[in-house]
Amino acid sequence: MNGFTSGDTPTGKRLRRFGTLSTAGALLALSACSENAPQDTMEPAGPISRQVLHLSEPVFAVAGVVFVLVMGLVTVAVLRFRERPGDTGPEPRQIHGNTRLEVGWTLIPALILFAIAIPTIATIFDLAQKPKDPLKVTVVGHQFWWEYRYDDLGISSANELNIPAGRPVELTLESIDVIHSYWIPPLAGKTDVIPGRTNHMHFEADEPGRYLGQCTEFCGLSHANMRAVAVAHTRANFDAWVAAQRVAAPAPTEGSPAAEGLTAFSAKGCAGCHTVGGVSEGKVGPNLSHLQSRSTFAGSMFALNADNLRTWLEDPPAVKPGSVMPDLGLTDEEITQLIAYLETLK
Ligand code: CUA
Repeated sequence: MNGFTSGDTPTGKRLRRFGTLSTAGALLALSACSENAPQDTMEPAGPISRQVLHLSEPVFAVAGVVFVLVMGLVTVAVLRFRERPGDTGPEPRQIHGNTRLEVGWTLIPALILFAIAIPTIATIFDLAQKPKDPLKVTVVGHQFWWEYRYDDLGISSANELNIPAGRPVELTLESIDVIHSYWIPPLAGKTDVIPGRTNHMHFEADEPGRYLGQCTEFCGLSHANMRAVAVAHTRANFDAWVAAQRVAAPAPTEGSPAAEGLTAFSAKGCAGCHTVGGVSEGKVGPNLSHLQSRSTFAGSMFALNADNLRTWLEDPPAVKPGSVMPDLGLTDEEITQLIAYLETLK
């Protein structure tokens, strides 16, 4: 040895590279074991997502067998038949143009694809079946939040899609600006939301609960902050939610901080962009008539509470890049009044 440690030899380098790669691979694989994975497509919470999973499982199994077989053969070929130093023997037998092999490796993949196509096509047709007696909701994608219009019920909301569990929901998907994609993994696959075009999707939640999702088409600076939540209720709770959405919030008592907030709401321009039943008809931002019936705001990016509202109102684009809502230059006092007003919007 002339002063080198084994770590610096080509073999040592190769070993270290192998170690790094396998550690990275193991970490990536282990990340799939997370307990808290609310957007896991392998945990369906409704018939549509379950049907998709039931198709992807056998397809994944077939693909897995093909992967292991092909990679195994490649590894054997590389290790066994590679050229070695001092190899002077004759060239191995060439198989180019071998009819039996050519037919074999064309026919076998074709048969595998055909076998996969049968359940795939059946599932596509199944999923395209219009559900009976669905709740109809129009979903409108905005940079960077979701609008929900229940035209049959005469109400509209934002960010949290309220639905009854155990009843199909049919979504009509539209966009006001750029391409978004609507995806609530526990309930269904994703569907693009395209300006100038109307798309449809439908799903059903088995049980009441909160199902998380998000925009899955890059749509600008806050694409990652454009989250979605589906809140499934029991029938009775859903009816109660609808009834509450139909009642306008009472006007704040004169002289109260909330009443000052209502004045600021009009004076500072909030009313130009936001609808509040009986007060304003702005269409640019989310409908705030029943803001307090939701537990999140700003594309479901923040939990709805006074602290978060304050941070938001101080400078929206600072906490949500690309936010259409600008920094309105509000004073601390105005923010306090606005929060007091927003808290009356039950
Ligand atoms: Cu909307 Cu990405």
